[in-house]
Amino acid sequence: MTLKDRVLVTAALPYANGPVHVGHAIGAYIPADIYVRYLRANGIDVLYICGTDEHGTPITVTADAEGVSPNDVVDKYHDIQLAAFESIGVEFDNFSGTSRKIHHELSQHFFTAINDKGHIFKKTVERPFCPSCDKFLPDRYVRGTCPSCGAEDQRGDQCEACGKQLEPHELNDAYCAICGGTPKQKETTHWFFKLSEFAQPLKEWIEKDCSHWPDNARNFALGWIKEGLEDRAITRDLAWGIPVPLPEAEGKVLYVWFDAPIGYISSTKEWAEKNGKGDAWKKYWTQPTKIIHFIGKDNIPFHTIIWPATLIAEGSYTLPWRIASNEFLNLEGRKVSTSRGWVIWLHDITRKFNPDAVRYYLISIAPETSDSDFHLDEFQQKVNNELIANLGNFINRTLTFIQKKGSIIPKPSGKLDEDDLKLIEEISGAPKLVGGEIERFKFKNALATLLTVAQKGNQYFQKKEPWKNNPDTALYLCANLVRSLAILSHPFLPQSSEKIWKILKLDGSVSDFGWESAGELAVKSGHEIGRVETLYDKIVDEDIAEFKGKFLKLGEKKLEVVELPEIDYSEFEKTDLRVGEIKKVGDHPNADKLYVLEVDLGPLGVRTLVAGIKESYGRDELVGKKIIVVANLKPVKIRGVESKGMLLAADVEGKPIILSPEKDATAGIKVR
Ligand code: 2FM
Ligand code: ZN
Repeated sequence: MTLKDRVLVTAALPYANGPVHVGHAIGAYIPADIYVRYLRANGIDVLYICGTDEHGTPITVTADAEGVSPNDVVDKYHDIQLAAFESIGVEFDNFSGTSRKIHHELSQHFFTAINDKGHIFKKTVERPFCPSCDKFLPDRYVRGTCPSCGAEDQRGDQCEACGKQLEPHELNDAYCAICGGTPKQKETTHWFFKLSEFAQPLKEWIEKDCSHWPDNARNFALGWIKEGLEDRAITRDLAWGIPVPLPEAEGKVLYVWFDAPIGYISSTKEWAEKNGKGDAWKKYWTQPTKIIHFIGKDNIPFHTIIWPATLIAEGSYTLPWRIASNEFLNLEGRKVSTSRGWVIWLHDITRKFNPDAVRYYLISIAPETSDSDFHLDEFQQKVNNELIANLGNFINRTLTFIQKKGSIIPKPSGKLDEDDLKLIEEISGAPKLVGGEIERFKFKNALATLLTVAQKGNQYFQKKEPWKNNPDTALYLCANLVRSLAILSHPFLPQSSEKIWKILKLDGSVSDFGWESAGELAVKSGHEIGRVETLYDKIVDEDIAEFKGKFLKLGEKKLEVVELPEIDYSEFEKTDLRVGEIKKVGDHPNADKLYVLEVDLGPLGVRTLVAGIKESYGRDELVGKKIIVVANLKPVKIRGVESKGMLLAADVEGKPIILSPEKDATAGIKVR
């Protein structure tokens, strides 16, 4: 980044049908906030744009469940989410909502412009319709088996197991996620975006302009283009949404994923309107600007392919410069499940604990390159032993010592020794070290680097023993390091960095000072500091226990009576289940979570099976294990490897637990 750059940062628009949890926060909003604060400290013209995603069926389902209107739902959660983000120091320049007029108009403009250019066509198609719910079932409300990899219980918009983008009607054995009933195919007319026409321009753009994207996003996009882009319906039969701007399209609305990313633009427009800035929003979208979308990994397909294709088709706006995508955050070893209450809501944890302490822990475990895990005990331990014992301790001992000596920054006395010079070097080198990591989107490393700088301060303080020796030079330098740490910690710990600034009684606010200024010795001798306050309270066992008891009720699930679609006994009898013995276990060449197994099925021979059990089982545990295999399935290719059968496993909180015969049984015998 250079000062000349103009940057627009967005974070995925969260659905306004519930509060946000800690996984959301660290998935996009906190990293984007760090980045924005850093750019601002470097004098770069940057805007941070977000808002709630207020359309789609989840909103109407929540509205039905709460007995209110969709409008009430989105208003309520818009405010709850914004308050939660603010509580943890995430500061947007604008937080809009996609049910607002400004957004409806812009989305309708996009549809009309793309249609006028001939990139949209109308087609009558068959779509799943649930007779008992009396509605067409959109995407995620149809569940069933992925036609590509055979994974069961997948959503109709995307298979979580193999990542394939789906249309709901492509699922096998589909059922209605609202009532469990069997959807029927029913004719309806929809408008399709000719995504296939954009394969070439997208490929050229990604190859030429996107070499700096993270590998996962770039490979995914190029892989999907290679597989072939298919035209996609961008309208839905729903009462809640943005009306399709055509007289013949009464009762149809725009597909939520067509309008949602347009929210990045409409929210920027709203920012300009609210701040009396007229057309200023256009600078960010039509003049050279680095547009960066912070998202979770499930949003990659939409942001790397569909959204850029929409922008190319419309033709007047800038394409994204970078996609910054994170993986998922699990909770105490299990997948977050909001329906089961296995979740830590952001507003609950920031109410109980110091928001910067929460922010510290979340950044330190950010799922940047792989999924990670939130543990309340680890939260306590990291806050106490790292944030407080290192950063907090250095700041506190320095300032308390100065306070005891009359609160005046002393004048360095005598000649600077080697340790003093080394500390000065640390101070002047720190902005580059921490900043470099932020620029590489390595926020976890950046925070660790910041802590190393504080650690150097602690070592220096310890060595200088200011309680024994003449403390003047040491206190002068340490006070300056405290100032540097305030500036450098601001992107990560905004509320406490401001507090440090106040205690130091320096002019203005910490964010008024440039990043580079953290490398200077700007606290002058003779300056008087304010009253010292503790930055963070130690987290005690009782706090954690109380929080767990109140908000994390292990194993407590909402009891739901699920009615399953029934099948005839004769249908089940067709399934040939056999005992198998695992002979060999190999890695899958194209997938991290899959094994390629060689399984002995006795008279049926040795078969290759692809199984998603790598996260639960090591190789050694598997070789020799007896398992149950569905032996008469048609072979399917899973990520390029042919699998001839499926092993049975229980789904325990999202993790597979293999079913085995309870007593020894020979490979190949039938299971009834
Ligand atoms: O996955 C989600 O939560 C979506 N609401 C994200 C939308 S991002 C953007 F396109 F608006
Ligand atoms: Zn139904």
